[in-house]
Amino acid sequence: MKKTILVIAMTCAVVTAQAQKPAIPRDAALEAKVEKTLAKLTLDEKIGQMLELNLDIMGRYDATGKWQLNETMLDTLISKWKVGSILNAPGTRASSVEQWQKWIRLIQEKSMKYLGIPDIYGLDHNHGVTYTQGGTLFPQPINIGASFNTELARTGAEITAYESRAANCPWVYNPVVDLSRDPRWPRVYESFGEDAIVNSKMVVAEIKGYQGDDPNHIDRFHVGTSTKHYFAYGAPWTGKDRTPAYLSPQIIREKYFEPFRQAALAGTLTMMVNSASINGVPVHASYEYLTKWLKEDLQWDGFLVTDWADINNLFSREKVAKDKKDAIRIAINAGIDMSMDPYSVDFCVLLKELVNEGKVKMSRIDDAVRRILRAKYRLGLFDEPNTGGKGFEKFGCDEFAAKALQAAEESEVLLKNDGILPLAKGKKILLTGPNANQMRCLHGGWSYTWQGSRAEDLAEKYNTIYEALCNKYGQDNIILEQGVTYKENGQYFEENEPQIQKAVDAAAKADVIIAAIGENSYTETPGNLNDLWLSENQRNLVKALAKTGKPIILVLNEGRPRLIADIEPLAKAVVDILIPGNYGGNALANLLAGDANFSAKMPYTYPREINSLNTYDYKVSEEVGTMAGAYNYDAKVSLQWPFGYGISYTTYEYSNLKVDKSSFTADDILTVSVDVKNTGSRAGKEAVLLYSSDLIASIVPDNKRLRDFTKVELQPGEVKTVTFRLPAKSLAFVGADGRWTLEEGDFILKVGNQTVPTACSQTSFFEQ
Ligand code: BGC
Repeated sequence: MKKTILVIAMTCAVVTAQAQKPAIPRDAALEAKVEKTLAKLTLDEKIGQMLELNLDIMGRYDATGKWQLNETMLDTLISKWKVGSILNAPGTRASSVEQWQKWIRLIQEKSMKYLGIPDIYGLDHNHGVTYTQGGTLFPQPINIGASFNTELARTGAEITAYESRAANCPWVYNPVVDLSRDPRWPRVYESFGEDAIVNSKMVVAEIKGYQGDDPNHIDRFHVGTSTKHYFAYGAPWTGKDRTPAYLSPQIIREKYFEPFRQAALAGTLTMMVNSASINGVPVHASYEYLTKWLKEDLQWDGFLVTDWADINNLFSREKVAKDKKDAIRIAINAGIDMSMDPYSVDFCVLLKELVNEGKVKMSRIDDAVRRILRAKYRLGLFDEPNTGGKGFEKFGCDEFAAKALQAAEESEVLLKNDGILPLAKGKKILLTGPNANQMRCLHGGWSYTWQGSRAEDLAEKYNTIYEALCNKYGQDNIILEQGVTYKENGQYFEENEPQIQKAVDAAAKADVIIAAIGENSYTETPGNLNDLWLSENQRNLVKALAKTGKPIILVLNEGRPRLIADIEPLAKAVVDILIPGNYGGNALANLLAGDANFSAKMPYTYPREINSLNTYDYKVSEEVGTMAGAYNYDAKVSLQWPFGYGISYTTYEYSNLKVDKSSFTADDILTVSVDVKNTGSRAGKEAVLLYSSDLIASIVPDNKRLRDFTKVELQPGEVKTVTFRLPAKSLAFVGADGRWTLEEGDFILKVGNQTVPTACSQTSFFEQ
């Protein structure tokens, strides 16, 4: 037990803040070039660098339906308005590599001719090259979170960087580390899940993959990242996209900020800002969050880009500015460096007026432009504004496909298996459900188009679940009767008139039923949700099929955990494939057949009830059972599956959990080791998760917190000792006074079913 507060006060140590140096040492020669270029620029040129426009406004569709870039318009935008950045794909639909090379080359030619400064072109290449046809699409980030494999994250990012540069695009709007702690939010699948450490480790791995090891010198095969959406975007009070968050200062600092802090320290070139507000302050208007936390406290020297039209939104949605000019004043003074103002050049006029009126200081403009120029120099764009062609022959190759398949196999989660899996060959399978034969739901939003819809033609060569099962089990053995289907031209949740009886009839000829259910693709506001339960039609389908008595395997293919408590008991096995990408069908077939082993674990808590939307790190008081006596108060966490849960075709035994220090202080590193044995008969990979519990603390402690993880491969019978090096400071929390606090008292470390005690002997406060 902890000692009294008095004793804590007597024994505490304050580690004074040291003046922060930039985490990535600056390159003096590069900085000199930045200064030289900056010194030559007029105010108009500087402001132009701070504007990002949407490519769409520079062209139109011709009579054949092909989008054509209007060169004269482009010329004006660059020569007159001096625009420094352009983004997006026309009609938010993927174009060919050759087309991208041409468009961006033209933009670069004009930028170099009129400005002597290259453009920084940005695309939402989120889980692979979303907007470039024929490239590699990986599983969505939520699957990478479920894989608990940081190497996979890095490799996927490396390939996406290479393929982006093949298309002449140097900048991607990724990684996404909005903690997915609210299952209602439509962008749950775009980050690595609900936990800060998973997101932190993944973001660092991806930044290395995208940018390479030296953020000062990013070579022609790597790209700049825009870690987004800074920050707490995934915590809307309403569950709806781009709506306000109300969060305690502790959770903001300890959890939501942490992956962004790690991204800054890893040298992410840029960050994109959260469109919504936190505790009444729109993030785009927050000097504290943008300038103080990132640029001053961390000395992060990258640039901040707004999200879509978000300066305008300060007056049109958030109502903290009286007009657009006022909104620009607020946002630029808060620390925004580049305005993604997709459809207008007003920004240039209004910002110039603000500078001339003294409402935005020239030093702020110089700071913003310096950051933008630094990113362009770091990307090597001044020396080589264009990439692609020779050296990029591996675009869309089999080697990349194999990595995407591996990522899919390592990220589909086995949640229940009464022994029916692996599914032997030779059985007749009824494949049913709306997700059974569509690529769209396998690859999700941000795939060929913004919503992932209307692009089946671009994903034709990949296998749906149906096609993959036919290849694996033989077409004659698969009966496809979907029972429920989506309205492909409707909204993501719209379904056609169900034909459940047809599926029930077809079940008579089958030995086993695979029901592929879940959601169609979406992102952002079009993905908003009114009811977390899985659609009634789909649940009715499963209920009707259960009455046939044939065994059911549920395959969940969804961007967020939809409630299924009434149908889960009807299934013999459940696999949550999340959104596994173009190779997700093949991966599923390999896993169901036992040709590959499951190794993923849930990246978020899967709720069972609509009023129990917990995360794994809930407070102890949320799960205390029922009290005895007349007043039988209770508090119970009701989960379908916990965070970190996932089984496989083998079993693992944990033993010998040890920590090298029974007592520690803030500067110590704890060495924690545990033996993990594969006790089954199949090889497998096990994600090993290290948790801690702070037993008593001066503010209510979480019941447990993930502190580190790794993944090991084990042959049958093999034992490996897994060792974690855990800085004692990582056991600290943010106290009521906002300070990082490592408090004297007892901790428990947990791995698998093992626990070991340790204790902090001296309270300390520190900054990080
Ligand atoms: C999204 C961002 C995206 C941007 C550019 C916004 O609507 O919120 O995630 O990067 O558009 O396409």
